Amino acid sequence: LDFENITLDQHGAIAVLTVNRPKALNALNGETLGEIVQALDLIAENAEIGALIVTGAGEKAFVAGADISELNALDGVYAGREVSLSGQDVMTQISNLPIPVIAAVNGFALGGGLELALACDVRVAAPSARMGLPEVTLGLIPGFGGTQRLARLIGAGRALDLMLTARQVKADEALSLGLVNYVADDPLSKSREIAETMLKNAPIALSLVKEAVRRGLNTDLDAGLEIEADLFGMAVATSDFREGTGAFLAKRPAQFKGE
Ligand code: HXC
Repeated sequence: LDFENITLDQHGAIAVLTVNRPKALNALNGETLGEIVQALDLIAENAEIGALIVTGAGEKAFVAGADISELNALDGVYAGREVSLSGQDVMTQISNLPIPVIAAVNGFALGGGLELALACDVRVAAPSARMGLPEVTLGLIPGFGGTQRLARLIGAGRALDLMLTARQVKADEALSLGLVNYVADDPLSKSREIAETMLKNAPIALSLVKEAVRRGLNTDLDAGLEIEADLFGMAVATSDFREGTGAFLAKRPAQFKGE
């Protein structure tokens, strides 16, 4: 498929989605978000793909936010709400993918760019990364899920500090905040390495872990524990569970089939 603002590559079981709009530091305009959705559909349909890496083209930026010239044209409560809802939808589609999704964060990840990284399961930052939610400097608030996902990831107090000051954090602080999982000189190759590690595990179990965490965060502990037990039951119903436990007991490596 021919995309204007993104590229989608496949390396074995790993797909790499790269936001590529160099003239605007990879800012997400409506067209780019539409292409991301098309790419997610292709990924979801492709059974060969077991993990996704999301990154930005060039050294300077992962994604510098939603496109401010498009935001500037917004007028009225309704239009604002719609833009937020449709961007949230894209981020939720990423987060709901049944495969691990890793953000390889190079350079600026601001506003909607950080929100894109927050929709991923794991974040790897380059030492050059600069992350923040500067929306209040524009008279806005985060609208692609950032107020919710950042607070859930690093806690309300730390999230509020970042959103109210609009300050940018560098990779080492992001690591200590729990905003990123790893700092690496080459975040893309580190992300590939992490994806390969994940891909050694049973694919259905990976998707069930994601689902348990995601659904559990939307509810209280008792309901979350029930969700866990239900999904644990589903794991026990897979042939990969037979294979995994059988292989352990036979002292041989497991051969998972995703069944
Ligand atoms: C549109 C953008 C952009 C953006 C950068 N550009 N960010 N265009 N939307 N988010 C464009 C610049 O206008 C410029 O275009 C080119 O990219 C290079 O950027 P410079 O500003 O010249 O680079 P530099 O001086 O190095 O500064 C880098 C920067 C700065 C600190 C990242 O660009 C910046 O502050 N960008 C905006 C970051 C931001 O506020 N993001 C949050 C957006 S709100 P020209 O044509 O001049 O070369 C948001 C809300 C999400 O994301 C939710 C919505 C519902």
